Amino acid sequence: MAAKPLLQIVIASTRPGRVGGPVAEWFVGRAQEHAGFELEVIDLAEVNLPFLDEPRHPRFRDYQHEHTKRWSATVSRADAFVFVIPEYNYGYNAVIKNALDYLHHEWQDKVVGFVSYGGVAAGTRAMQQLKQVVTTVRMYPVVEAVNIPFVGQFLVEGEIRPNEIMQASAIAMLDEIARVTPALRTLRSAR
Ligand SMILES: Cc1cc2nc3c(=O)[nH]c(=O)nc-3n(C[C@H](O)[C@H](O)[C@H](O)COP(=O)(O)O)c2cc1C
Repeated sequence: MAAKPLLQIVIASTRPGRVGGPVAEWFVGRAQEHAGFELEVIDLAEVNLPFLDEPRHPRFRDYQHEHTKRWSATVSRADAFVFVIPEYNYGYNAVIKNALDYLHHEWQDKVVGFVSYGGVAAGTRAMQQLKQVVTTVRMYPVVEAVNIPFVGQFLVEGEIRPNEIMQASAIAMLDEIARVTPALRTLRSAR
């Protein structure tokens, strides 16, 4: 049997005390129950990239810095991603944009889903903005998503207690990522 695709779950917030940690923890549990993927959690706080400091456009893959080479190797091994993103000032947070800007080919022809959270808009403004960015590096965002409104209401003693909508939408998104991933693998192998 073929190995399961590798899904990287990327925690975008690096803020001390972030809600992104518990949200990702809940989603990882849901992805384990789904069982369609090998999983890897990528915490951008640990990746700790400086603001983009590579002299050449990433499409040349002529990286000068060890942190970029490490980041390239990490993203290269993934088949698919779920970005766990907060909404800051009606948009995505700077750290996720910076992490995307570092690379080019490594993202290409890979599927991405979003778990967004925030206040009244459930992080959807950030998610929609980020779709414009990810398609420019030729990623394929799925329509299915997890969008968590007033995320604080689901936090109990530092853990997310999800509602049924969150539980169901996580599985719907993972199913769609699993459906699209093999087609993109074929696209990548044709390059
Ligand atoms: C700088 C900043 C800007 C924010 N702007 C928004 C916003 O525009 N819309 C929103 O729904 N929530 C906004 N929030 C609230 C965040 O969604 C909420 O604090 C969330 O917990 C942030 O994610 P994090 O804890 O993982 O960093 C903002 C929070 C911060 C720190």
